[in-house]
Amino acid sequence: MRRARSPLLLLVLSLLLPVAWMVKHENFKTCDQSGFCKRNRQYADTAASTSGWKAPYSLDPATIVVKNGQLTGTILKTVGSDTVRLPLTISFLESGSARVTIDEEKRLSGDIELRHDSKARKERYNEAGQYALVDGLGLNTKATLCSTAEKGTTVVGYGVGEKNDAFEAVIHHAPFSVEFKRHGTTQVQLNKHGLLNVEHWRPKVEKAVPEVPEGETAPPPKPQEEGEDESTWWEETFGGNTDTKPRGPESIALDISFPGYSHVYGIPEHASSMDLKQTRGGDGNYNEPYRLYNADVFEYELDSPMTLYGSIPFMQAHRKNSTVGVFWLNGAETWVDIVKKTTGSNPLSLGTKAVTDTQTHWISESGQLDVFVFLGPHPEDVVRSYGELTGYTAMPQEFAIAYHQCRWNYVSDADVIDVDRKMDKYQIPYDVIWLDIEYTDGKKYFTWDPLTFVKPEEMTAHLAKRDRKLVTIIDPHIKNTDNYPVVDELKSKGLATKNKDGDIYEGWCWPGSSHWIDCFNPAAITWWKGLFKYDKFKGTAPNTFIWNDMNEPSVFNGPETTMPKDNLHYGNWEHRDVHNINGMTFQNATYQALLARNKAEEKNPRRPFVLTRAFFPGSQRLGAMWTGDNLAEWSHLAAALPMILNQGISGYPFAGADVGGFFGNPSKELLTRWYQAGAFYPFFRGHAHIDTRRREPYLAGEPYTGIITEALRLRYALLPAWYTAFHTAATTGAPIVRPNFYVHPDDEAGFALDDQLYLGDTGLLVKPVVHEGADSVDIYLADDTSYYDYADYTVYQGKGSHKVPAPLEKLPVLMRAGHIFPRRDRPRRSSALMRGDPYTLVVVLGKGGAEGELYVDDGETFEFQLGAYIHRKFVYEAEGERLSSADVGTKGKGTDRYVKGMEKVRVERIVLVGVPAGWKSGTVKVTEGGKNWEAEVSVVKGGKGRADTAVVRDPGVAIGRDWEVVFG
Ligand code: GLC
Repeated sequence: MRRARSPLLLLVLSLLLPVAWMVKHENFKTCDQSGFCKRNRQYADTAASTSGWKAPYSLDPATIVVKNGQLTGTILKTVGSDTVRLPLTISFLESGSARVTIDEEKRLSGDIELRHDSKARKERYNEAGQYALVDGLGLNTKATLCSTAEKGTTVVGYGVGEKNDAFEAVIHHAPFSVEFKRHGTTQVQLNKHGLLNVEHWRPKVEKAVPEVPEGETAPPPKPQEEGEDESTWWEETFGGNTDTKPRGPESIALDISFPGYSHVYGIPEHASSMDLKQTRGGDGNYNEPYRLYNADVFEYELDSPMTLYGSIPFMQAHRKNSTVGVFWLNGAETWVDIVKKTTGSNPLSLGTKAVTDTQTHWISESGQLDVFVFLGPHPEDVVRSYGELTGYTAMPQEFAIAYHQCRWNYVSDADVIDVDRKMDKYQIPYDVIWLDIEYTDGKKYFTWDPLTFVKPEEMTAHLAKRDRKLVTIIDPHIKNTDNYPVVDELKSKGLATKNKDGDIYEGWCWPGSSHWIDCFNPAAITWWKGLFKYDKFKGTAPNTFIWNDMNEPSVFNGPETTMPKDNLHYGNWEHRDVHNINGMTFQNATYQALLARNKAEEKNPRRPFVLTRAFFPGSQRLGAMWTGDNLAEWSHLAAALPMILNQGISGYPFAGADVGGFFGNPSKELLTRWYQAGAFYPFFRGHAHIDTRRREPYLAGEPYTGIITEALRLRYALLPAWYTAFHTAATTGAPIVRPNFYVHPDDEAGFALDDQLYLGDTGLLVKPVVHEGADSVDIYLADDTSYYDYADYTVYQGKGSHKVPAPLEKLPVLMRAGHIFPRRDRPRRSSALMRGDPYTLVVVLGKGGAEGELYVDDGETFEFQLGAYIHRKFVYEAEGERLSSADVGTKGKGTDRYVKGMEKVRVERIVLVGVPAGWKSGTVKVTEGGKNWEAEVSVVKGGKGRADTAVVRDPGVAIGRDWEVVFG
């Protein structure tokens, strides 16, 4: 595995061999090697190739009841002469979303037998919602049954707002399918192609094995005769591991179609484009479905639907001016096939416009079928609806969105202090230094290596003095060894995950033989909380935060580097049912632990920071994620942004990639370009593998160190804008960095674009350089608005591609006219030192004026929930040539105190970009709190191709007050 190798050996090898990074495909299943995926794909093939094929599922009309915002009924699955009863619920939610769940009566009532004396639960797993959902389940009692429905259908009208009639669900009884309409047009269809498949429980019928007379060999098994392929129903072996499947086949599948939609996005995490590809072969398409099965994929490959560390089964479909979405709530292994069909493209049939439909096929190994449908129509509506259910991203502490300095490993407390001092010496801003697994005593978490981390409390105190933080790694595998109280307690309290026989599960990870905490168990969370108390995890302090890695979980000797599916969790649910949720439960336990490190903190806690590698819907409430073990290669730099953008539109925007690349040694140019790109990742951390050369920014030498420092300073200057964007994400679900389609939902040419980003509502448009030796980039402008170069105000205008110079020292950033954003321009060594600094407002004038926001709070506690924040809206009116600042949002009991504390924080500069030609230097009128005064404004002519600008120095206004500056 990737245990540390000897540096000498590595050096010798690296001189002899060209480094070839390659994922070990043989360690991970293809759909064909995953029984339930193969069966469902075959089912789809049979449906498509059988003429007159009829789906065997129908909704029994006699069972339908529509009441209080819910439709209930029973779907009958016909199997030969038998029928299987599948309870159906369609819930119409107040938010305008709809939820469809299908269960199986026999399993639900426990009327089945398990094989191998298994202790597993008999029901289909129905607790994913307990972890993923936090709100938004209120039923829309105004949903109404439509009396004019065609025969064989039931139609329910629902929606939002006064009229409550924008949406409609048309439920076809036989075969069962559902059409979701918005204003009469079908947007989403469930089971249009009849691929609904609920593998019902059945007993295993032992087939008589023909006796073979002694001395003769058994005849080869007959090829599959009529009927279903049972070969993977009862047992499956992969890579030497056998899954005993005590409940037999139990997959669920459904086709979900988006008529008229040619783009679908989402379902992270994959190292792939944001615009999802087709998966059933053909030019430029994949041959495999997108897979969601949280896994530690070593040296992952790019442009691949292979699974990665986290799973969010939430997909959006987009066409011009319409976005819709579906959320498949299932914690088991899931595969998603995507096919697009274009009709009407015959060049001879004039007047017919080609229409593309996207058809998707969702396949999960077990659990209830549970799917939410969002009808938009705007991208913001879809992410808001999804966030209403699963929670919005947590508002982080301010330090968490500043720069993090990490590597595997800082080797001693002295090393940490040395790096800290050097960052200061070179005046490189940073907020957090990280410790990877080597800080522990023999990979025993909650301990320190006694030889290298001799005085951890002095180290944390040293950092605290500079208002800096420490993050230490704590993984979910607990070393199975003597004299380690943590493992003793885990065992004696029975809080570990169990194997199929109900004994403690043992596997291998960093420490060697290990056990895994089972955070589905509330008692395990209580215990975990105790371990983080300052007197237990000695050496840590309030400035210590946590990194949860390997929580897929990664098990080096397990099937597909994870746990056996027949392992048992709390409540006797099989690991199979909850695999994708597992990582989130661990991050949740740590989050809870950080809230309660001592009594005082329990009363007035600071916001926890927990980085996770594995995730599931809801993880966004608990901290940041990163894209795992990437490579120090240009291709990986390029691959990071599409992944981060996809995270953003999928409800988990606090995302980043290892800056510099984890494996391998980046060239100085690559490292520099990566810092420039990373300055626009919501989570911004440099990290490196233990076998790599040291690469702290000050080591690069000039001009690289200087350029990297500039990129870091840009991040720090824009922290107020980042923090505001996080606030928007935390209250509306909007992504922090946004792809073109999200900002310009009507611009068809930009729907697939995922190599440039917009930062929140700032109008800042960034295109990181991801190619070696590049000295320019082509930035795509989606509209005819003016855009200005961030540094020199060069004007770019006109829809389409524009070449923007990008020598090494330059990160291409444009400012879109019509926006205002806040900055803090005084370079400091950490974000905490900027707290009292004055602001600069950048007003980028558009035709009608400009608008922007600032959100600021104490950056640490939860007092913002009591209104302890400043939230301003800045408006520049072109007509009156005036800029004003007004309060946004409601007041709370903490507001006045906070605003008072910020009284001295002022706006020190207003920069106006793209000012009218007639403007001259002189004075402007300022009004605040009933008082008037004048301030100086100087106008600078931009010259050829550049915008004119104006700067008001020290207008004398406070950031927390209402004020107005009149220019005309
Ligand atoms: C995993 C993580 C990586 C970390 C290493 C050692 O590979 O993804 O970031 O450095 O483990 O803990």
